[in-house]
Amino acid sequence: MKAKITTLPGDGIGPEVLEQAIAVLARVASKYHHEFVFHEALIGGSAIDKTGSALPAETLRTAEQCDAILLAAVGGPKWDNPTAPVRPEQGLLGIRRHFELFANLRPVKAYQALAHFTPLRDDLLAGVDLLFVRELTGGIYFGPRQEQGDGDSAYDTELYSVDEVRRVAEVAFRAAQGRRKKVSSIDKANVLASMRLWRRTVTQLHAEKYVDIDLEHLLVDSCTMYLMTRPRSFDVILASNMFGDILSDEASVLAGSLGMLPSASLGAGTFGLYEPVHGSAPDIAGQGKANPIGTILSVAMMLRHSFGLEKEAQAVEDAVDMVLASGARTADIAGQGSSYVSTEEFGQAVVGQI
Ligand code: IPM
Ligand code: MG
Repeated sequence: MKAKITTLPGDGIGPEVLEQAIAVLARVASKYHHEFVFHEALIGGSAIDKTGSALPAETLRTAEQCDAILLAAVGGPKWDNPTAPVRPEQGLLGIRRHFELFANLRPVKAYQALAHFTPLRDDLLAGVDLLFVRELTGGIYFGPRQEQGDGDSAYDTELYSVDEVRRVAEVAFRAAQGRRKKVSSIDKANVLASMRLWRRTVTQLHAEKYVDIDLEHLLVDSCTMYLMTRPRSFDVILASNMFGDILSDEASVLAGSLGMLPSASLGAGTFGLYEPVHGSAPDIAGQGKANPIGTILSVAMMLRHSFGLEKEAQAVEDAVDMVLASGARTADIAGQGSSYVSTEEFGQAVVGQI
């Protein structure tokens, strides 16, 4: 197949992890006879520096002509001024919204070899394999707000419609059908009206179309606890924009390093935005210390969800597993005082395994 991909290196370690992910895509193209064409564009702080905007119109135009977006990371202390009129994160929020990428998929697996990097006991971690389906274009992130007000007060609004909840819940139920058939829907229905609508809508959709799925409703506060006390009991976790943001960072602890985790942001069609869960890590930028696994596994998600290339996606995931099994470690997963390979060496080892 032939596909066009917008690449957005962004800030900090973004360019170095992206380079390795592109090398992996190039290897997949040559091995399986596909053609991937890359169109690089600006986003985040580096876009602010060059154009004054975190999401230049040119970037949206480029992405509109492509089949998928591969984004690395945005942000950094340079742009971290709370009174600045533009912030790098606006680029990320803007691109999610522009393409109505309402479902954010974040798989979290516990890697046995990295168990000692987590604060949890081995017996709790073994077999952890869960998938967050986070609502991404609604809720308090995009609800009515008063930014500055009179200086004495400000507000943000959690606002959900039945349609917004339904479409993301559909994604969660369908994902569960291909997995262990369980959905944990997270809310705060004991306090918030918007979350009572959330629970009612999920319950209704379940009764209509997905009775084969085991559905549980959890309050967000208990869920934070269960993620640490019984992480293996989760299969698919369906959550609102903000709760999904918080819980997925908490769950990343189970994987051993934030650097391991990929994500896919999907809308109604096959178009998607793929990015590692980690941020721009400005403190280690340019030192070859970044872990490219999150971005490389995001490429696997792109091959699967946007291009329908399951075999190729599996080959990339297997290659990462094999390189880890060979003992190669980037700095974040090497342990104090242990030797580690560079971002590029790890990426090239994955390329070599495909
Ligand atoms: C994430 C990030 C973003 C979010 C920030 C950078 C705007 O934390 O992708 O989880 O809150 O969605
Ligand atoms: Mg987050």
